[in-house]
Amino acid sequence: MQERNITLAYRLYTYEELSATDRELVDAARQATRSSYAPYSRFHVGAAARLADGTVVSGSNQENAASPSGLCAERTTLYYANSRYPDQPVDTLAVAARNGRGEFVTAPISPCGACRQVMLETERRFGRPLRILLYGTQGVYELPDVETLLPFSFDASVMEILK
Ligand code: THU
Repeated sequence: MQERNITLAYRLYTYEELSATDRELVDAARQATRSSYAPYSRFHVGAAARLADGTVVSGSNQENAASPSGLCAERTTLYYANSRYPDQPVDTLAVAARNGRGEFVTAPISPCGACRQVMLETERRFGRPLRILLYGTQGVYELPDVETLLPFSFDASVMEILK
């Protein structure tokens, strides 16, 4: 028997400590919470992606009376970015959320499993790290790549159909 460990390194910044470009992206994610359609959960999530050429796109969660038909802010944003700019790697994705009282969450929210899987595919598709910024009023987490957020991930290469 062997015991193995995975170490995950991430950083915690105050909003003021962020670089101007990161603050701009976080602000775009915060702004995107305003376009959220969340009449069922009243949880308003916004995401913003900075592409390799500097373009910023944003999106929000879109709910539906038939719950599984809704989509999280992260996937709305990444699918839009990849549809509109299919040749542009995604450099950084920022996420922000407001609760039912309209307040930004104090601790950053962490993307759901399905969004992590989609983020991972975007990272691998372009072969370069997709950095993540998770905003909370008490601090911002910076994860260097999606691998950090989704260890032990499913990888298409095991299907061996691509070889
Ligand atoms: N949601 C997101 O958009 N992103 C997350 O990272 C977590 C959850 C949305 C889905 C749903 O519309 C609402 O938040 C409550 O789960």
